[in-house]
Amino acid sequence: MLSGKNILLGITGGIAAYKTANLVRLIKKSGANVQVIMTPDAKEFVTPLTLSTLSENPVHSAFSDEDTGEWTNHVELGLWADIFIIAPATANTIGKMANGLCDNLLMATYLSAKCPVFVAPAMDLDMYKHETTAENLKKLIINGNRVIDAQVGQLASGLVGKGRMEEPEEIVMYINNYLKEGLVLQGKRVLITAGPTYEQIDPVRFIGNNSSGKMGYELAEKAMKLGASVTLVSGPTHLNADKTINRISVRSAQEMYTEVLENYKESDIIIMAAAVADYTPAQVESDKIKKSDDHLEIRLTSTKDILRHIGGVKSDNQLLIGFALETTNELENAKGKLKRKNLDMIVLNSLNDQGAGFGHDTNQISIIDKSNKIEKYELKSKSEVATDIFNKIISLLNS
Ligand code: CTP
Repeated sequence: MLSGKNILLGITGGIAAYKTANLVRLIKKSGANVQVIMTPDAKEFVTPLTLSTLSENPVHSAFSDEDTGEWTNHVELGLWADIFIIAPATANTIGKMANGLCDNLLMATYLSAKCPVFVAPAMDLDMYKHETTAENLKKLIINGNRVIDAQVGQLASGLVGKGRMEEPEEIVMYINNYLKEGLVLQGKRVLITAGPTYEQIDPVRFIGNNSSGKMGYELAEKAMKLGASVTLVSGPTHLNADKTINRISVRSAQEMYTEVLENYKESDIIIMAAAVADYTPAQVESDKIKKSDDHLEIRLTSTKDILRHIGGVKSDNQLLIGFALETTNELENAKGKLKRKNLDMIVLNSLNDQGAGFGHDTNQISIIDKSNKIEKYELKSKSEVATDIFNKIISLLNS
């Protein structure tokens, strides 16, 4: 996939910089052209001569050549690149990228680049864990960069933990996979809700539901592979999300509402696949409820309908997609929700269809769009269903 592509590699000042010699060699071997930009500190860890020899191109580092005074055109470098990889990315560079600072050639090129940017962080474990680093990485993802998560292992400090740069072979494979999928949603931001919500009754009990979150996670993965930058607001599940997905974990309907509200404005496509509780205990007991009478009554109040709220406030250029899980009068109920909640389309799954709905790896859906056009699909894996849903979304985007 990399053959013939122009790859710009930004190297910053961390010990993992020594691995970039191999990274350049691997990229070259896959038939791509490579140019390297180093920050001044990166040169302490690997020599420009090594990288220029391996890349068969001069290495860029300063805004101008010391001897000739010739300017290094960062705009041109940014436009030349089909893919921009920043590896290793130190905490310092990640902070600069997140905040638009521009005190070296690498940062100027990053701000000028129009291509997909991949960032492979490397730092000591406590720096990686620090809230500021986490916030900065989140900003990078929201801004459309792809973060190739650091790995757990022995670090330069002698400590063992998360912070090792991903291995060059893995970085190349990651980019290859990314290119394979086709990037029709490049530049789009997708917000997805997934999983159940848990409504606390007392410190040890909650009201939940059977949603596994699988459908929402498959949708998030698909959107990511299509090139979108994805935020996944997830209720409690055991599922793992891809490293490049900005997952926000929530528990209750109220928390999910708050996070969706926080994130929907920047989203082009909003998909609400979560099984949100419609009711929550009116009051959370601070102590465990003791067994006393034969009956226990818990008063419930309704939660906010997140989908309906967003339907009321979204702008015309945002696509809003809801889900409906029905047991009776499926099509009529789903059409009602589509209209009531001001959706662009609704995905209906009926619990009457075998293999569809909660907990299964398969699903059988119908999609109803705004013009009330109904499309019924076969029983398929949830991953294939995610593809069908995105094919429909893409056709709506293009219509
Ligand atoms: N939904 C939501 N917030 C809620 C309840 C539901 O965002 N508080 C969203 C779900 O994520 C789903 C859609 O609304 O996309 C449909 O949910 P569903 O529970 O089937 O619909 P309701 O409107 O709650 O109707 P009912 O329970 O009466 O079927």
